[in-house]
Amino acid sequence: MGADSTVSRIAYVNGRYCRHREASVHVEDRGYQFADGVYEVCEVRGGALIDERLHVERLQRSLAELKMRMPMTTAALSVVLHETVRRNRVRNGIVYLQVTRGVARRDHAFPAPETIPSLVVTARSLDVAANERQAADGIAVITVPDNRWGRVDIKSVALLPNVLAKQAAREQGAKEAWFVDAGGVVTEGSSTNAWIVTADGTVVTRPADHAILRGITRTVLLKAIAEQGLRLDERPFSVEEAYGAREAFVTSASQIVMPVVRIDGRPVGNGHPGSVATGLREAFHRYAEIS
Ligand code: PDD
Repeated sequence: MGADSTVSRIAYVNGRYCRHREASVHVEDRGYQFADGVYEVCEVRGGALIDERLHVERLQRSLAELKMRMPMTTAALSVVLHETVRRNRVRNGIVYLQVTRGVARRDHAFPAPETIPSLVVTARSLDVAANERQAADGIAVITVPDNRWGRVDIKSVALLPNVLAKQAAREQGAKEAWFVDAGGVVTEGSSTNAWIVTADGTVVTRPADHAILRGITRTVLLKAIAEQGLRLDERPFSVEEAYGAREAFVTSASQIVMPVVRIDGRPVGNGHPGSVATGLREAFHRYAEIS
C-alpha cells in the first residue's frame, strides 16, 4: 500500500512531530478518560486537502458546542495538517485531527480554563484502486437501532454505538450499518451519511438536524446535485422505502460516494451500482475545494 510501507509514519502530537509508533498522549487526557474531544477526517487527493475550509468550520462548530477552545489559529492548523500530509508522503488518503479538552486530574466537570487543549494529527494513504473496485461492486449495509445520544451533529470522539454498529455489519458480511430511529426512519450510517434514489430518479437524504452529522461530502454533493439539475428531496426516508429504492449510496470523506447494492440482504434495484450514484461519484471533485 505505497507510502505506508516505505516511509516511517509521523504523527503530530501537542506541538511535536514524532514517530507514529512512539506517539502517545497522557493517561489523564480527557479524550482518553471521558471521550471529551472532537475530530475531523479530511480527504487527501494528489497530496492536497479536499474541502479543508468546510472541515475546519465544522471543527470550530463542534468545539463551540462543547465549550472547547481551538488549540491554535486556523492558519496554524492548516500548516500542521499540510505538514503532516507532507511528512507522511500521502498522495491519496486521509488526514485525521483530534482535539480534546486537555490533560487534567480526573473530574467529570470541566478543568481549569487555562488547561491547554490537546491536538493530534495523523495522515495515511488509502488504496485508491481497491476503493474504485469496491465502488464498481457496491457495498452491503445492514440496519441497526439508533441508540446514540441526541447531539450526534457534534463530531465527538465518543463513538461506541458506531463502533458496535460497524462491527455488527462486519460480522454479517456487510461494510456499513445504517442507524434506524424508533419511527423506522434511517438516520445515517455508522461513519457515513445515507441516501436513496426513488423510482422517478429523485435523490433523497434526510435533513441535517441534531440526529445526524452534517457531512461535508453531503454538503458538497448537494451543490453538485443542484448544479447537475437532478431532482432532490431533503426529507426523512424509512427502511421500507430504502428496500424498494432504485438506488442507494453512502457518503463520507474517505469513500466519497459509495453505491449500496444490498440492504439487510435484499438487493437494491437490480443489485448493481446505479447510474446516479456512479455519476455523482465521478462528478464529486469538480465541486470540491482543493488546498
Ligand atoms: N466519518 N456520519 C457519521 C456518523 C460520520 O462519522 C461521518 C464521517 C459522516 C460523513 O461526514 P463527512 O462527509 O464529513 O466525512 C456522516 C468519518 C469519515 C470517520 O469517522 O472516519
